[in-house]
Amino acid sequence: MDCAKFLTSVTKRRKPSIIREWAKRFIETPNGISLANGMPNTKTFPFEEITVTYKNGIKGKLTGDELSYALQYGPSQGCIPLVKKMRELQIHLHKPAYNDWDILFTSGSMDGCNKIFEMILELGDPVMVQVPTYNGILNALAPFAPEFLEIPQDHNGIIPEIIIKICKERIRDGKPLPKIIYVNPTGANPTGTVLSESRRKKLYEVAVTYDFLILEDDPYRVLQFLDKKPTTFLELDTEGRVLRLDSFSKILSAGIRLGVVTAHKEFIKKLTMHMETTNIHASSMSQMLLFKLLNTWGQDQLEQHFNEIQRFYRERRDIMLSSIEKHLSGLAEWNVPQGGMFVWLKINEIKDVMELASKKCISQGIFIIPGHAFNYDKSKLEHHLRLSYSYATPTEIDKVLTFFDPILTSFIY
Ligand SMILES: Cc1ncc(COP(=O)(O)O)c(C=O)c1O
Repeated sequence: MDCAKFLTSVTKRRKPSIIREWAKRFIETPNGISLANGMPNTKTFPFEEITVTYKNGIKGKLTGDELSYALQYGPSQGCIPLVKKMRELQIHLHKPAYNDWDILFTSGSMDGCNKIFEMILELGDPVMVQVPTYNGILNALAPFAPEFLEIPQDHNGIIPEIIIKICKERIRDGKPLPKIIYVNPTGANPTGTVLSESRRKKLYEVAVTYDFLILEDDPYRVLQFLDKKPTTFLELDTEGRVLRLDSFSKILSAGIRLGVVTAHKEFIKKLTMHMETTNIHASSMSQMLLFKLLNTWGQDQLEQHFNEIQRFYRERRDIMLSSIEKHLSGLAEWNVPQGGMFVWLKINEIKDVMELASKKCISQGIFIIPGHAFNYDKSKLEHHLRLSYSYATPTEIDKVLTFFDPILTSFIY
């Protein structure tokens, strides 16, 4: 696939850094001597050893070279052995069907997402976006003043036929086709939907037909409650059309700020150049902690950890759903999230929930996000609320819904 045609003029002007390139080569050269880089001397740092204790009691220790690595600048693409490990993990998880793919470690997946938008979108370009969608994505897009093409979802996720209709109409009207679609396919934020298998396949076919890229933002993949893991777009991709974002935020730690972009090598090269001049690289300390963890655990323990996370969120989801059922039947409608962290609640009888969420709830110490946050046009009236079951305790969840019931009733009547 010709990746170059998707790149913005800003991206085309990006140049690789000789200093960063040689820093990487130095690390790869046994017994190399570097007078090249302005690397601080790690002997001057106040750390002798860093030890972490995992929940199963096993300890991971960073000393010597590993400690120096964690405290030092590293390659912009990511710590070399970790990059190798992550490539192996992606092969295990997604079996990419073409050879020219690679990965890049980023400071959380939002970092990768922003860099992808900058790589692909010129000011005012059309972009297709699953709606409603995570506020962070909408705000990342806003500076590009895009022609925002909404792709709505039902309980099976976004609807490929709407994409076909939009593309056909644009061809008919002589308008440029969008270069990219943003999709949050598994346990979507805020709706909790999982894009069905048949729609994933159809959407990939449509992307090939109308020649656009798929940005697969999949931070809730592990947090899905189906019997069978859905096929990823990366798995379906045969030609480098998919840019996949993975995040460690929901499965290891949000504070570790690590994400991974998996995409065609040509895209990864450009994104890495962007990394060289912005973050320089994702945190070396975080990468070393992740590397240590993956090495200590191995595949089986990782799977076990993922299963535990799934069980945890499924239980929390069920607790929230039964609380909603108890307190809001007749007042609201809601989905049963198939994954992720959120219930998308439609309040009957209220045209707009902003005052309810911003005044009535907050004055009672209850924080719930009004649906406006997930629309590109924030002035649109909204009768949805997003309730997160990830963080509050079961007692707190029930307390909120017990409070919420009379607040809502008094607001409506
Ligand atoms: C859909 C979606 N994408 C991206 C992110 C951000 O992930 P990260 O912490 O890896 O930047 C979030 C966080 O809530 C999210 O819901």
